[in-house]
Amino acid sequence: MGQGMAALGLLLRPARAAGTDLVPAYEKAFAAAVPGDASLPALAFWRGRVALWAILRAAGLGDGDEVVLPAFTCESVPMAVKFAGARCAYAEAGAGDFNATPETIAAAVSPRTRVILCQHTYGVPLPMAEAAAAAEKSGAMLIEDCCQLVAPAPGAGGPGRTGAAAFFSTQWSKPFSTGLGGVAVFRDRALYEAARSIRDAFPREGDRRRARSLALQVFLHALMVRPWTHAVVAGAYRWAQRVRLVRGTTTADEYGRNMPQDYLARGLNVQAALGMPELARWQANVEHRRQLTALYLRVLAEVGAAAPGGMRPGDAMWAVPVQVENKDEILRQAASQGLPVATWFDVPQAHVAAGTAARYDYRPGQCPRAERLMQREVHLMTGPSVSARRAGAAVRFLAACARFAEI
Ligand SMILES: Cc1ncc(COP(=O)(O)O)c(C=O)c1O
Repeated sequence: MGQGMAALGLLLRPARAAGTDLVPAYEKAFAAAVPGDASLPALAFWRGRVALWAILRAAGLGDGDEVVLPAFTCESVPMAVKFAGARCAYAEAGAGDFNATPETIAAAVSPRTRVILCQHTYGVPLPMAEAAAAAEKSGAMLIEDCCQLVAPAPGAGGPGRTGAAAFFSTQWSKPFSTGLGGVAVFRDRALYEAARSIRDAFPREGDRRRARSLALQVFLHALMVRPWTHAVVAGAYRWAQRVRLVRGTTTADEYGRNMPQDYLARGLNVQAALGMPELARWQANVEHRRQLTALYLRVLAEVGAAAPGGMRPGDAMWAVPVQVENKDEILRQAASQGLPVATWFDVPQAHVAAGTAARYDYRPGQCPRAERLMQREVHLMTGPSVSARRAGAAVRFLAACARFAEI
């Protein structure tokens, strides 16, 4: 309830919640704790996708320039690329893998490529030396999507510490949560300065409304969400978004061609105040995820379910995915038993859906592996609210009831 009380305190002080004076200390603490380098300059944004947008604009991307990005991704990523005025070029997922690979990335590169976006899917790091070599060869800038990365490797040159910039999400389900939020860290100083000027020019009108809405949502979340109520509350939240009772993670107007008016929003005190205590618990969070990852991988190996490429028992993952033929049934049953099983893709993502794919420069069928992975994806959650007992129950339930498919 710690976050709930903090959110309640912020609800009662709306001007404080919508301010930005707590943000610089939060940015510093984030860089020190998560990528593990206090000297990296960092910028907080309202959401991770806005961080990406600002990085792309700071890189000077425009009409006709291409960004190589994985097809197996959250739709908010191609949306940010399009809102930044660039074209999307998709890298297919590798065989036996949820990540794109150096080969599929290289296949998506063209003379128009200006940025290569590397995503560490579920927390499995991409081989950064190869990604950096591909970027260098094509003259493109390397940017890292670390929204699912739990444990960036220590030392420079590892995941989260190789690209010119890396962005992280602190959305509800992410490695740590401030409800909504995103932080970008920069290795390229000039890119940082440009992104900072861009962010500091964002309009401020909506800040108070946004801060109030987020504090309220985090308070209600702390009050209502328990492992066994998670699925019901998540369903109610999605419904409330659809009927526009709450502005959720993705708003309906983001699916349009034009960037919504209030898309560009900076990180606020409400996020800094909620994030600071989470950063203090970061190492414990990582360790917890490491233990649950090992438990899941052990039981899945016992029943012969395919383990995702690159995932090893000593790693800390954001989630452990499996491919199942009976996805709807698994999600229904897991929800009714309150088990920590979820899916990243409960509806077709806008960039692969037949009706909207063209808007995101995708041809349905273009990356068949990624599409197939999305359709069959469920994952075991590793977050701090998942106890070892419930994790064990969840993976045993999958072992007994899932019709596993190849990755
Ligand atoms: C891989 C990936 N990239 C980007 C994002 C966007 O983050 P945010 O929701 O904070 O905008 C998400 C999550 O939603 C994600 O999972």
